[in-house]
Amino acid sequence: MGEIPRAIPRRERLIVALDVPTVAEARLLVDKLGGAVCFYKIGLELSTAGGYYELADWLLQRGHKVFADLKLYDIPETVRRAVANLRGRGFSFLTVHGNRAIMEAAAREKGEMKILAVTVLTSLDKSDLEEMGYRGEVGQLVLERAGGALAAGCDGVIASGLEASGIKSRYGDKLLVVTPGIRPAGGDMGDQKRTVDVAQAFRSGADYIVVGRPVRDAKDPAAAAEGIQATTAGIFSS
Ligand code: C5P
Repeated sequence: MGEIPRAIPRRERLIVALDVPTVAEARLLVDKLGGAVCFYKIGLELSTAGGYYELADWLLQRGHKVFADLKLYDIPETVRRAVANLRGRGFSFLTVHGNRAIMEAAAREKGEMKILAVTVLTSLDKSDLEEMGYRGEVGQLVLERAGGALAAGCDGVIASGLEASGIKSRYGDKLLVVTPGIRPAGGDMGDQKRTVDVAQAFRSGADYIVVGRPVRDAKDPAAAAEGIQATTAGIFSS
């Protein structure tokens, strides 16, 4: 099992999702954000754009942390081999999906990376789950999946701010909770359904938050990110 950092440097708690179509645009956004952000998530969109690993190297050279949000999902052997390929590149976090065997395969090969299991996407609600064949409450499923992730050797989970406190009260610091679906109260939800604001996410137990559009689409992205950092600084003392 990975070691959970007891004290996360508070400016690292904001992870900005570089959800842009090209590496050139990603670099522009990072330049614009300057010192406001030190942890970036590069996900599916950039993984299909070309230059994904060059961008990761560029971010690392600038002293940023990088989260590879590739949401790996395949048979265990294929996931195991894919994770082995990703190891050693300097990624801090990597996401996987799936059952115990898939998560165990990822955890076995993780090296220096922390493996985060996707519980239930923050864009899904109860009726979406029913459409996919799952019965029951979203919160219950998230908790069950978090337990499975821990048993499989994952370091943390991706979960909404609505489930963070349940996960923390059941599993404490054994699992990192990384929370996307962050929206200012009354803000545009886009395709997200299980959203909370920055303060709610951290007060509910999120260790990290992932923010995409509220920063990317702000008139002044650096000011938006600094606003989030200020809220974070009001919650964590160091
Ligand atoms: O723009 P927004 O803040 O909604 O972006 C959220 C980011 O977090 C996106 O990059 C999305 O892929 C990611 N994510 C998510 N829900 C999950 C896992 C990842 O929204 N469960």
